This record gives sequence, C-alpha cells and structure tokens, in this order.
Amino acid sequence: MDRSQLTNWLREDDAGRLTDLWYCADAIRRKHVGDAVHLRGLIEISNHCRRACLYCGLRAENRAVRRYRLEPETVLLCARRAARLGCGTVVLQAGEDPALTETWVADVVRRIKAETGLAVTLSLGERTRTELEAWRAAGADRYLLRFETSNAKLFAALHPPLNGALERMTQLGVLRELGYEVGSGVMIGVPGQSHEDVARDIELFGELNLDMVGVGPFIAHADTPMGAGEQSAALAAGEQVSADAAQTYKVMALTRVVCPQANIPATTALAALEPGRGYELALQRGANVIMPNFTPAAQRDCYQVYPGKGACDPVNETTWPTLLARIASVGRTCGAGRGDSPNWQRRQRGTWCPAAERSSA
Ligand code: 5AD
Repeated sequence: MDRSQLTNWLREDDAGRLTDLWYCADAIRRKHVGDAVHLRGLIEISNHCRRACLYCGLRAENRAVRRYRLEPETVLLCARRAARLGCGTVVLQAGEDPALTETWVADVVRRIKAETGLAVTLSLGERTRTELEAWRAAGADRYLLRFETSNAKLFAALHPPLNGALERMTQLGVLRELGYEVGSGVMIGVPGQSHEDVARDIELFGELNLDMVGVGPFIAHADTPMGAGEQSAALAAGEQVSADAAQTYKVMALTRVVCPQANIPATTALAALEPGRGYELALQRGANVIMPNFTPAAQRDCYQVYPGKGACDPVNETTWPTLLARIASVGRTCGAGRGDSPNWQRRQRGTWCPAAERSSA
C-alpha cells in the first residue's frame, strides 16, 4: 500500500468500505499471528520523569503528580503475580527516571528472568547504548520506544530535547543491533498531525520492520501545555487528524496490513475511549496483544500519562476472569508462552532481510 492509498484510508468514513478494511486486517492477523491473544503484564515501576514532553501527565514540571518508585522486591511480587495468572511477558515501564540506573534495572531483570522465566520488555524511554547493552546482557528481551510522530517538526515541538539522549530513531537501530525485539508506535490526533503524517508513520512502521507496534489516541491532560489548549491552537494543522477511536482503529488495521507479523496491542488509551468494547473491536481489527496492569493499586492512579488511565475500562489482576471472558467472546484464545513476534523469530534464525530488500524480492 503506498502513501496516497494509506492517506485515503485514513480519510475514509464510509461504513461499508471500512468493514472491508476490518475484514482484511482480521484475515491478515489470523494468517500471520493466529488466534492467540498474548497477555503482557504491565508494571509501571516509576513515574519520575526528567523530560518535559508537552502532552504527557508525567512531565517533570507537573507538580500535581505524587511521584513513586517501586522497590525491586515489589516489582518481583508483581511479576510473580503476572506469571501465576498466565502472562508470558512482563513489561517494565517508567518515565525517564535517572534513579533507575543501569545496575538497578539489570538486577531486577536478572531476578525476574531467574525466578519466573517470563520474557521481559523494557519501556524506560531514551537511554544510553551502555545501559541498553547491559540490560540486554542481563536478559531483557524487548524494548518499546514510540517515535510518536514521523513529522520531525512536530516531534521537535512536542519533545524539548535533552543533551546526551540518543535520538529515538537512532535508539531503535541500536536496539535492533543488540538483538532486542523492537517496538514503537505513535499517538493519533496530536494537535498539528495531518493525515499525511500518519500515513508516513505507518509506512515507517514497515520500513523499520518493527516487531511490536502500539498506537493509541491522544487524550488531553489538563496539567500539560497541550491539554491546557494554547499550545494546541498554535500547532493546529490545516487538516487535523481526529483523536478518536474510529481513527485509531483505522491506523491499527492499516498497521496490520503493512506489518503482518508484528505484535499489535489493543491499547489502554483506545479502551479508555471505548469502554466495554474497545478491546474487543481492536482484537477484531488487527490487534493480538493485551497489556493488563499489574502495578500495585496504591501507585496505579499516579501513573496518569493521560487522565483517567486505566480507570474507565480496567484490565488488571482483579478483573482477570472478565478479561478472559472478553477475549473468548470474540472467538480468541489466550496465548501460551512468550508470544515472540514471528518477525523476530525469523531474524534470530538469520533469514530476515531488511524491508528494502524484501520489497524488491
Ligand atoms: N494521550 C495519549 N497517550 C499518551 N502518551 C503520553 N501522553 C499521552 C496522552 N496525553 C503515550 C505516549 C507514550 C506512551 C507511554 O504513552 O505515546 O509513548
């Protein structure tokens, strides 16, 4: 699919044609990654953040946030709970917290791997090559770092830079080189984002040959410059992408078409906009992963990258039976084991070739 076709789909609002797109994404999902829904236990290990991203509730300047950092022992407790309930993976996510040092993270990863055997995904922001190497050596399997938007000007406007940080695209390359399964993604409907921008984002998912792609709607947070309004007006694009569920489903479905073998989560931000049906519809429109939240209840409310995160349609250990029923209700099964992306498995066997060679093959 070329850029103009992607753009046309992103502008499409005819229900009949969209049904064709859902059908196509669902068929590709079934063929390439099957009916299993992989469960990744999310543990939000720290909400400290040194960055000032204009849209995120955890930005350093937001004094309204009660900051926390879990003890390694608590992280282990959460990981054991996730393993007991049937997750094949834990995702350790945090703001960019310098107190999560190379050694701190490496030790926690080593302990989780030794005690539970779970796959470990890290999502700790922009970090140095040395740290990424150490964590991979400690046993980390995957890394998530959304590039948020392929529009360089918009990215720069949203992310005040920090000296010494790896540029995100560079970091994605380093992660690949180190043998991580690599995940990225974008927000949909950030002020200033056009349909062409999102079409380019989706193309880039394919070019980067990502193993995991997460896309979710932008949800305004009142305690951020973006949520307060004035910044949004300044950035407004000629043709603004809407930050709604309909648009997010389209991006997910098109992502499945472009990256048939990737693991694609039904994101919490999408579910928050569509209580009671967001996960189900996402699973029927390209997604094959859900990330239930295992952060201790006492800290969960403090991890609000956007307002009400997890509150509208929670999937966590207390709603477990409901979660399993929701997966079964759309004719799907729970994945057993690690749920590695077939893309990465192929790379491990040495049969992977870059996107550029693939398309000319
Ligand atoms: N709305 C939606 N998603 C957000 N994120 C951060 N802030 C928001 C927001 N206001 C997403 C970003 C980030 C991920 C952890 O959460 O895409 O990469």
